[in-house]
Amino acid sequence: MSRRYGIIGWPVEHSLSPAMHNAAFAALKIDACYDRYPVSPDDLPEQVSVFRESLSGWNVTVPHKQAIIPLIDVVDPVAEAAHSVNTVVNRDGLLYGYSTDGYGLQLAVEEAFGIDIKGKHVLFVGAGGAVQAAAVQFAEAGALAISVVNRTVEKAEAVVARVSKIAPDVEVKVFPLNDLPADMSSIDIIIQGTSVELKEGRELSFDFSGFKRECVCMDMIYNRKTPFLNKAGKHGMRIAGGEDMLLYQGAKSFELWTEQNAPVAVMRQALT
Ligand code: ATR
Repeated sequence: MSRRYGIIGWPVEHSLSPAMHNAAFAALKIDACYDRYPVSPDDLPEQVSVFRESLSGWNVTVPHKQAIIPLIDVVDPVAEAAHSVNTVVNRDGLLYGYSTDGYGLQLAVEEAFGIDIKGKHVLFVGAGGAVQAAAVQFAEAGALAISVVNRTVEKAEAVVARVSKIAPDVEVKVFPLNDLPADMSSIDIIIQGTSVELKEGRELSFDFSGFKRECVCMDMIYNRKTPFLNKAGKHGMRIAGGEDMLLYQGAKSFELWTEQNAPVAVMRQALT
């Protein structure tokens, strides 16, 4: 029987994941399909019981990444620390939860700039769910230090507390967005994760003057060179958009479901 996968969210119509995963199944001749499942927050518990019977696995997107955690049987330690599940694997009726978002970003950064996260000092700008998942993953992957800059300092503190819990040896720091120290030269990688520039015409005010030129900068916003990236580029940094984050989080989900190497080139093509 054909295996069924999908993505649950509210809304979920815009998701590019079906194109990416169906192309991957076709390329590897796996008899499976991947669909969109709109699930409202109120319906989540009931729908998860239905999917336990009908789906072999699924992705989870906004607003369910946290709410689904108590409905999962076995939560992976990184997902637990990030307090976010974006991938569910149904193994004989037992639901396993993972977070592949941070891994997707890690691979995107390593590929885009030809670097290894290990030993690096990473600065996240923003402290929402996406940053939280990524900061935990980067710490787990061997980052030397994780700093978080945010308008609301308490939210940045909550993110670094999660990092410290899973990786106590990683050095963590928090800064207010509008009051960065003059010397930021220890930072190797900047990740922009606020929602400010999602809307065209809006610009995040950020002071690049204390950073070294050798620093690299990725924006989680994709398909557009944001004002943030433009400023980083003008400062002499190498820059990249977040296009490959979606690709690599999907590739990791695919591998968790199929236990086969994801056909990344085919998946990338399906996203364009
Ligand atoms: P996610 O989708 O990643 O969960 P979120 O929780 O909506 O995102 O968080 C959005 C991020 O953008 C937060 O870091 C938020 O800062 P606050 O924690 O201070 O709210 C940041 N953000 C949104 N609007 C902003 C603005 N006008 N200026 C600065 N930061 C802003």
